[in-house]
Amino acid sequence: MGQRGAGESSSERPVVIASNRLPYTFSRTERGLQRERSPGGLVSALEPVLRKRGGTWVGWPGIELSEAEANIPPGGSYRICALPLGADEIDGYYHGFSNRTLWPLMHSLAPRARFDAAEFEHYVEVNRRFGAAAAGEATDAGLVWIHDYQLMLAPVEVRLQLPEMPLAFFLHIPFPPYDIFRLLPWDRELLRGLLACDLIGFHVQGYALNFLDCVERTLGARVHRDEMLVEYGDRTTRVRALPLGIDFERYESLARSAPPSQAAREQLVLGVDRLDYTKGIPERMLAFERLLERYPEHRERVVMLQLAVPSRSQVEEYRSLKREIDELVGRINGRFATARWSPIRYLFRSIETERLCGLYRDSDVALVTPLRDGMNLVAKEFAACQVAEPGVLVLSRLAGAADTMREALLVNPYDIDGSAETLHRALSMDEEERRSRMTALRRRERRDDLNAWVSAFLEAAGVERAALAPLTGHDFSRWLDPFLKRYRLALFLDYDGTLTPLCDHPAQARLSPDVRKAIAACAARDDIDVSIVSGRALSDVLGMVGLPELTFAGNHGLEIGGGQIPHFVHEDLIHYRQRAEELGRALARCEVDGAWVEHKGPTLTYHYRAVDENRRANLIKDVHGIVALHGYQARDAHCAVEARPPIGWDKGRAVLHILRHHYGPAWSEEVRVIYVGDDQTDEDAFRFLAGLATTFRVGSADTPTSATRRLPDVNAVAALLVWLAQRAPSDA
Ligand code: UDP
Ligand code: G6P
Repeated sequence: MGQRGAGESSSERPVVIASNRLPYTFSRTERGLQRERSPGGLVSALEPVLRKRGGTWVGWPGIELSEAEANIPPGGSYRICALPLGADEIDGYYHGFSNRTLWPLMHSLAPRARFDAAEFEHYVEVNRRFGAAAAGEATDAGLVWIHDYQLMLAPVEVRLQLPEMPLAFFLHIPFPPYDIFRLLPWDRELLRGLLACDLIGFHVQGYALNFLDCVERTLGARVHRDEMLVEYGDRTTRVRALPLGIDFERYESLARSAPPSQAAREQLVLGVDRLDYTKGIPERMLAFERLLERYPEHRERVVMLQLAVPSRSQVEEYRSLKREIDELVGRINGRFATARWSPIRYLFRSIETERLCGLYRDSDVALVTPLRDGMNLVAKEFAACQVAEPGVLVLSRLAGAADTMREALLVNPYDIDGSAETLHRALSMDEEERRSRMTALRRRERRDDLNAWVSAFLEAAGVERAALAPLTGHDFSRWLDPFLKRYRLALFLDYDGTLTPLCDHPAQARLSPDVRKAIAACAARDDIDVSIVSGRALSDVLGMVGLPELTFAGNHGLEIGGGQIPHFVHEDLIHYRQRAEELGRALARCEVDGAWVEHKGPTLTYHYRAVDENRRANLIKDVHGIVALHGYQARDAHCAVEARPPIGWDKGRAVLHILRHHYGPAWSEEVRVIYVGDDQTDEDAFRFLAGLATTFRVGSADTPTSATRRLPDVNAVAALLVWLAQRAPSDA
């Protein structure tokens, strides 16, 4: 992987940010185009960052805009790139996959998640467009920085278009444990999407560890927990816990200047949230009700003010939550209200930050009790605004903020009795304790503020690309000892790109003496049988490897020879010799610009490595057409198209053929299988052998694979062979 160039570091050059939301959401009213600040913590966090540093913000403006309207004047010193979405996309990508699938699942509320393949398709396409738009804005950028769960696949497109661009991601919500994330039918795709980045940031260490667990167990990626690195194919990604902070000074100063928010007759308990089922608003109201039941002394003396910002009201779960809260407020007020007092005041709208800061300052208790929350900025803003008589923060232990805000009173929001008791304690706490707790909370939030977060993130994104040390026997032992135990090993190895690096011409791909020695050493063991499975003609691959004691499958397994099993040629091939010749003649038309056709008996390979990249697409299309016209199957390989007879035979079936002939039909009782390959024709084997073998895909992290694990390059394959040759059988 290329190293970053010398000169300006990425932290000095412009940053391109992509998030689903822009800082403003637009709407059309009789008064024309209106814009409103977008809801949520992500915008609260990123807007000041771009205002201060400059750069470009790519995001969805909320409605379809005309070209002129889309050219929105910047909100400050940064550029806006508005990416409009069609009605179907909004439905499938935003309301659907983002908010009906990912949002609940990532918050560990799995029963609320629904899985819909059509919505996922929209998500894929919209992410591709976000990625392309970000890449388009990034020509001079030092960093493309993608945000949040709506855009977990966007890094793939940025990486495709700008392979060397520093690319980072920050997740503003939790990352759930493996057992929850794997409920997602597209878990592999999303993990691979994130691993296109150089850096992935999470709010807290727990989320980062969950992510490492998922990539290790779902993708078979190599994970180094001490260094927090993931190696996936030929790429290494850095994973970091970087807790978000707030613009502390701004909130503090707004709190100092805000007018009084209410006559201080009663104690004020404040809740501020988007109206979202993750926020635990009903549970909080029930806890407040329990307080009034158990401690009547608070009646007429305490008021709970719940601010609920409308959110995602097109999603049914959010609408039914609104009904539930409306009913709860009515019921509790009906039960306890007196002529001069109502226990709950409930506002279903947002208010400006200035007013909010006054409320924070004047509240005696902030009840921040989400059922699950990535971080929760309200808890931090409340602390920053405590510039007068100190209040008490009651904080859910299930919010990311609880990891650091230790001096808050922590509660389990599901425990209504416990929350009521804690609220009572908060309302009765003496001034000295309140001051001690709040001073500590404020000191930390002032130090770990938004600036500190941005600096830490950009610093982590700006360092040289990470790379894990080469694989060692220890890694192989961990992966394979429990699988191999004392079984015999049937080892299947592809040739080009697996045992030798890919070359301009197949004749140049010679096996290095070291690799040949390692293969021979494996084959010399009593408990290992080695087969080479290649797309080359049988005689060709036999000649290249030169170890006749091995078994060889040539022509993608259509011909098998060498070793101890009877020579095999697929019986249907007889019908294809003639057609192969005709196809060869037809393909000769495409032997232009350095492309050429390799004739391998029943199969052919069209090689286009020498063709200029801009001219390849048309040629490949023509070749596919010609191959299909001749009743052959085309399969893409590295800078080549393989043409094979459509007889339902591939490398996977060839492996099974070898296993059955070598060990008999009950082979799985005594043999364990490893298959190592690097291209699409090996994917046939990976899929076929799923559950029957441990499979390794060699090379690029950018191609999807059905293999169990990945190896970065041919050197890693060589290391694996050496380890296998020297391995002492384990009892594990
Ligand atoms: N907020 C706001 N106006 C309101 C209510 C909330 O600007 O009327 C802001 C609040 O100050 C905070 C953000 O919305 O910055 C909520 O962020 P948080 O991380 O608490 O939750 P999220 O909505 O991102 O889940
Ligand atoms: C949370 C998410 C953000 C999102 C915000 C508001 O903070 O992490 O990505 O923008 O909620 O939700 P909305 O769906 O209105 O953008």
